[in-house]
Amino acid sequence: MTTLKNDTFLRALLKQPVEYTPLWMMRQAGRYLPEYKATRAFAGNFLELCRNVELATEVTIQPLDRFDLDAAILFSDILTIPDAMGLGLYFETGEGPKFERPLQSEGDIELLAVPDMDKLRYVFDAVSSIRQALGGRVPLIGFSGSPFTLACYMVEGGGSKDWRTLKTMLYSRPDLLHRILDINARAVTAYLNTQIEHGAQAVQIFDTWGGVLSHAAFQEFSLRYMQQVISGLKREHEGRRVPVILFTKGGGQWLEIMAQSGADALGLDWTCDIAQARARVGSQVALQGNMDPFALFGTPEAIRAEVARILEGFGPGSGHVFNLGHGINQFASPEHAKILVDSVHELSRPYHI
Ligand code: CP3
Repeated sequence: MTTLKNDTFLRALLKQPVEYTPLWMMRQAGRYLPEYKATRAFAGNFLELCRNVELATEVTIQPLDRFDLDAAILFSDILTIPDAMGLGLYFETGEGPKFERPLQSEGDIELLAVPDMDKLRYVFDAVSSIRQALGGRVPLIGFSGSPFTLACYMVEGGGSKDWRTLKTMLYSRPDLLHRILDINARAVTAYLNTQIEHGAQAVQIFDTWGGVLSHAAFQEFSLRYMQQVISGLKREHEGRRVPVILFTKGGGQWLEIMAQSGADALGLDWTCDIAQARARVGSQVALQGNMDPFALFGTPEAIRAEVARILEGFGPGSGHVFNLGHGINQFASPEHAKILVDSVHELSRPYHI
């Protein structure tokens, strides 16, 4: 077991003292990097890239070779779980993810089961391989979709603007949706625990679509199942705490209840004020975020000013992991991403004296 050379990210998640505010970027390995596009072309397509352990390791490391990031994130996708459940994941160019066999009937849902984790071995092999390639440079983040966000794609059969099929089920046959969510929660728990056993040093639950729910429905259909997952997670491995980050996009109005979920940190999208967020959650959890990914389309001066504004908003002390409020856009400039990374490190030091 190699020792971690830079554990700033893990310390910030646990609100332990740090020298500067650590950061990583959601979707840091991706199409905005020419070297990613080259490796993806070599792999053939995105799913082949996810399934090829050597190439998945390569693209995970690419952003770290370019930028001084404080964490690596496993290169994979949230939809590996429903794929392993037999739904048949595929990507149509320019259209995002799709399923060949979405959950369309009560019979489909009756047959749904927690998949054998062996079907996801390529993910766990990638975790082991990335840990080895990192050699203790920075910690590795594992991840999963939330039970609800996975259900969105499983019921709808792909992405959607309004999630009409999913919401029809939610309001007409909530019992069916609860059955899917319970199976998903058990699958996500096993999936994250296996990632942790293979070397993931923190885990993030992506609840990308929780924010489309009503206040009542969020608690009943998303938060409750994320709590079920968190309560089943292995929280210590290799003698260290494995922090859990919960990220509900559009979930800014629910921070207080999310802070009681058992997570160590909450991800914030760019729509909330980080100063108010910190005041609302108090010392219960750390915060991660929350720069608008499109701020990278501004001038270098504007990017630095935005970084300064967010750092000032959080204020002094540990408990902040800087990040974008959602994934980096494919048209963002790598040079501007570098300005972001270097500005966070430079401008945050005075807050940690
Ligand atoms: O953050 C990272 O760098 C790790 C990699 C990562 C990917 N997907 C790679 C990816 C992570 C953490 C995800 C999670 C994911 N996948 C989410 C939750 C996070 C979020 O963005 O809200 C969701 C909703 C998905 C489902 C998914 N996968 C969609 C909607 C798409 C298409 C989006 C797009 O940008 O085209 C994907 C494909 C995908 N996943 C890509 C990458 C790098 C683009 C694939 C390509 O190379 O063409």
